[in-house]
Amino acid sequence: MRLFFFLLCLLFGSAAAATEQKTELLQPPASLEQWYKPAAKRQIWLHNMFKLRREIQAIEEYAELEDQARLEKWTGRFLEHYRKIGDMVPEWKDELDHQWAGRLAEAASSGDFNAAARATRKLGRSCQGCHDDYRAVVAVLYRSPDFSQQTIDTGGEGKQKYKKYMETLTRYLNRMKIAVEDQRTEAALDAFGKLDAGIGHIARDCVSCHKQPEIGQNYLNNDLRASLQKLETAIKAGDQREAGMTLGEVAVTACARCHGTHRMLYDLKQELK
Ligand code: HEC
Ligand code: HEC
Ligand code: HEC
Repeated sequence: MRLFFFLLCLLFGSAAAATEQKTELLQPPASLEQWYKPAAKRQIWLHNMFKLRREIQAIEEYAELEDQARLEKWTGRFLEHYRKIGDMVPEWKDELDHQWAGRLAEAASSGDFNAAARATRKLGRSCQGCHDDYRAVVAVLYRSPDFSQQTIDTGGEGKQKYKKYMETLTRYLNRMKIAVEDQRTEAALDAFGKLDAGIGHIARDCVSCHKQPEIGQNYLNNDLRASLQKLETAIKAGDQREAGMTLGEVAVTACARCHGTHRMLYDLKQELK
């Protein structure tokens, strides 16, 4: 809830309120970072979590089937990974419910299926407690892309910092809009050409983080190319209305969609650091 409010503040620009809320957001202990890339080779923390969810499910299902051998097997695995939480992040040891973990172990070894199911439900609450406080923040901090060191190869103008290049593109976009309104076709076409090339540069840059070249191709796809073409035609024809509408289309598909995934999370990450 707090995070949600914080997001609202961030989105709707109440800087003062956002700062106030930020102090209330819980930061995970620093020792968590070592279980995430790039400090770790794999997302070790997250994988432990996926195991826990699977193991809880197995315990529930084998308790229901009254299959003691398998119940014990999965309880053993579950307890190992549950305790690993506290080994990995010692500050979080007290988030664990050691009492119910012990009762689960007993229930499994004595074949008390009802008690095992009950212990599992109780343990589930400790999962929920930590998730309510930390899950969203941790995902943003450690798994959202970091653009702070990202540069874009802009061809003629060399490599530029991401943020700076974004500002440049916005200037081309607005210059084009101003020139269209003032019927300066040459200037509008010049700005269009730069924006068009710029979109190409960002599209080629996607592979610097994404291994799949399709990501860039899906971004600068035939629809976006068609919109750009339509925009150029409208500028040449001096059709202000059509140019305005198409510009809106371009801004959404070439800029806003990516901001929805990458910029919003990155902004939030900066706020949390
Ligand atoms: C002490 C804190 C803590 C406890 C206890 C905890 N988790 Fe988590 N869990 C996290 C954090 C932090 C994340 C976010 C990780 C991320 O997104 O990178 C997470 C994420 C997850 C995810 C991935 C969520 C998703 O859908 O993407 C699963 C599944 C999960 N936990 C299962 C469990 C289960 C099951 C338990 C209890 C048996 C549990 N966790 C206990 C901290 C905890
Ligand atoms: C600085 C690195 C970086 C750059 C540059 C980058 N991305 Fe991403 N992107 C990521 C990471 C990391 C994820 C995965 C986030 C996660 O797993 O939670 C992601 C996720 C995505 C997703 C959603 C998940 C998926 O894989 O489908 C889309 C869509 C996406 N990126 C598109 C793009 C496009 C299009 C570009 C270029 C215009 C781009 N990205 C540039 C790092 C980057
Ligand atoms: C990879 C996806 C992606 C695409 C596509 C993209 N942006 Fe961005 N944009 C970002 C990220 C990430 C940031 C935050 C960079 C930072 O703060 O360092 C950003 C920041 C910005 C900013 C704020 C810069 C500042 O000073 O804080 C503007 C303005 C901007 N983008 C405009 C655009 C325009 C215009 C387009 C389309 C022509 C566009 N962006 C396309 C990811 C993208």
